[in-house]
Amino acid sequence: MTPSLRRATGRSTPLSLADRLFSTGEDRRTARLIEDSIDALEARLAVETTFTGGLVDVVSRYLLEAGGKRVRPILAFLTAQLGAGVTPEVITAATSIELTHLASLYHDDVMDDADQRRGVPSAQNVWGNSVAILTGDLLFARASALLAQLGERAIRLQADTFERLCLGQLNETLGPAPEQDEVEHYLTVLADKTGSLISASAQLGIIFSGADSGYEQPVRAFGEKVGIAFQLVDDVIDIAPNDEDSGKTPGTDIRAGVATLPVLYLRQEAVTDAAAAALLARLTPAALEAATDAEADDAIRELREHPVTRRTVEEARRFAREAVEALAPLPAGTVKKTLTRFADTVVERTS
Ligand code: IPE
Ligand code: IPE
Ligand code: MG
Ligand code: MG
Repeated sequence: MTPSLRRATGRSTPLSLADRLFSTGEDRRTARLIEDSIDALEARLAVETTFTGGLVDVVSRYLLEAGGKRVRPILAFLTAQLGAGVTPEVITAATSIELTHLASLYHDDVMDDADQRRGVPSAQNVWGNSVAILTGDLLFARASALLAQLGERAIRLQADTFERLCLGQLNETLGPAPEQDEVEHYLTVLADKTGSLISASAQLGIIFSGADSGYEQPVRAFGEKVGIAFQLVDDVIDIAPNDEDSGKTPGTDIRAGVATLPVLYLRQEAVTDAAAAALLARLTPAALEAATDAEADDAIRELREHPVTRRTVEEARRFAREAVEALAPLPAGTVKKTLTRFADTVVERTS
């Protein structure tokens, strides 16, 4: 693995995403192309996180330099192989998508009161909420400026995607309406806050490589479903035992009152099951706050070992399967095979 790939994938994955996608010899040519594209992406990201120098640049590069898997750009680079490959426009689009993702992380950690991100203290932990929020805004602005270089279609796609991302975060914060099914609401939130950006990334790879426009819809559907699967796996990772690499405290989202699928399933079971109701009562943010560390860890561990967590894993697998089914119109070959492996990798990841 080149130093650049190691840098791109950060220290959170023992085996990088690219390595897992291209484990067989026959895909080596595509693997090399993707690797070169990641090098170009990293160089461009360094340029596009430069603003006024000094502390502003330290803050805007902080989470970029902390790591990250570059999932969204890799997806655009892969779908671009269905056309003329990774053109300069694909690099620009992928950079914009990754900046949008990066910006959303600065904001998300404020909203979720997260201590850590990518193995380092979250930005608001270091500089406070105002700096984290404004840095996110700055990166969103740069992401828009980049897509403006690609024309109106790209700007429209970015605007629609950003609207959905914000709606997802907002609906997650507001919660379901009283008559709304909680699980259904939650899956819509995941599609909006995470599926939308991954889906746009896959589509941009098609558009800016000049690939057959008939592939846009299949890869959009793929990205959206993979995004939901990805986020459901995140719910399981959130309650995984603490390990140094993940850089997250177990139950971060649950402690912050963010509903995750295991908790939503537990709420459904709590209606008829007293043991589920008792566990649920120990998992509210207030109960976790009042508990000793050992008691809180115990409650999170019980949730991890409860069948609701297994059901969440199964639901993630279902979405990944549907994502692969959406690829049916694509020609057989390396791209389709690698996207299939991509979906498998998402549900198998542990960090
Ligand atoms: C984390 O995304 C936030 C979500 C949308 C689930 P990633 O898992 O892609 O984060 P990085 O970029 O690798 O840190
Ligand atoms: C990440 O969402 C941010 C966006 C999707 C915009 P989460 O809050 O679910 O993800 P993590 O766990 O902090 O990465
Ligand atoms: Mg979060
Ligand atoms: Mg969040």
